[in-house]
Amino acid sequence: MERPGAKNVLVDAINDRSARPVVIGLGHVGLVEAVNYAEAGFQVAGYDINKDHVKAVNEGRSHLHDIEDSRLAKLIESGNLTAYDQPACLRDRDVYIITVPTLLTEEKDPDIRPVENVAAAIKEALSRPALVVLTSTCYPGATRDLLFDPLAKEGFALDEDFWLAYAPARIDPGNPDWPMTKIPKIVSGMTDDSLELGKLFLEQTIEQVIAADSCEAAEMTKLLENSFRLVNMGFMNEMAHVCHELDLDAGDLGRREFAATVASEIVDKLGQPFKLDDDRTVDVSASIGIAIYPDDGTNLDQLVVLADSAMRQAKANGGNRFEFFKKKDAKAA
Ligand SMILES: NC(=O)c1ccc[n+]([C@@H]2O[C@H](COP(=O)([O-])OP(=O)(O)OC[C@H]3O[C@@H](n4cnc5c(N)ncnc54)[C@H](O)[C@@H]3O)[C@@H](O)[C@H]2O)c1
Repeated sequence: MERPGAKNVLVDAINDRSARPVVIGLGHVGLVEAVNYAEAGFQVAGYDINKDHVKAVNEGRSHLHDIEDSRLAKLIESGNLTAYDQPACLRDRDVYIITVPTLLTEEKDPDIRPVENVAAAIKEALSRPALVVLTSTCYPGATRDLLFDPLAKEGFALDEDFWLAYAPARIDPGNPDWPMTKIPKIVSGMTDDSLELGKLFLEQTIEQVIAADSCEAAEMTKLLENSFRLVNMGFMNEMAHVCHELDLDAGDLGRREFAATVASEIVDKLGQPFKLDDDRTVDVSASIGIAIYPDDGTNLDQLVVLADSAMRQAKANGGNRFEFFKKKDAKAA
């Protein structure tokens, strides 16, 4: 079904908002995507296998804190957004945005069945050149394995019958200062044309779209981001234990005025015995201040100096580990 100039036709349709996108999966990410594109002036279809979900959306009832019912209802009323629970709605679409869940199986392996199901549905529906954008969090190689391969096997040609992009979802639920539109987004494409179309489409709702060199690289950025977050959460949980032992309120760590005090307390209490619940040890390094106060204008230099000072004292006290945790029954006098 080669159509000369098909890419240019889609470029024009995206630019003049006549392109017809469908968002597949109207969950935490998908409903926000659907609303954003509908508000940008596109006639958006939302497809979800959860019938209750679809009914609620069409009745203007939002399941997301970040999207008020009135905002949703306005889009439904204007016809810019319509939700469907049948795959027939996937026919005659110009853009497929995939936002289905990618959780874990009971064996803790990635459960990619929702993406496989969507690929099968798109395969059935694809009847004109269209852009496919996967946004679900996936392993490096997933866009190729789960979308390119099945579509190519079916006889669809990349850059002629479809273009394929990967752009991991990034949202900060409940934070009105950082709506999805303001959070920079990574995009990648299986080909240069796929990247160009994917970037153009995302730029209709996202202020800053950054191109990655390959889909694998973009997939990896998402895993890096999530792993980074997990490590930081784990670190802060440990810090909360430490604060508890020091009779400090971990919640107060969020206040920049409190930052220097925390570091001073650590310095003051060095070498003293602590009342503890278990025997874990915690490294306290200069990164303590940075990990806690990423971008709020705190004087990081001061924090780094204080934390570094704590580390030096720990070393002077006989080691390069600052031991917060000792067994309760082993506490010194
Ligand atoms: N929620 C977040 O904060 C967040 C942030 C970044 C990335 N992500 C990633 O985005 C993806 C979507 O996450 P989410 O939180 O929106 O999930 P979600 O569970 O809130 O929503 C997914 C929706 O997809 C629907 N669905 C499942 N299979 C389907 C199918 N075959 N066809 C159509 N619809 C289908 C479900 O019914 C559900 O409504 C995941 O890969 C997730 O890891 C989520």
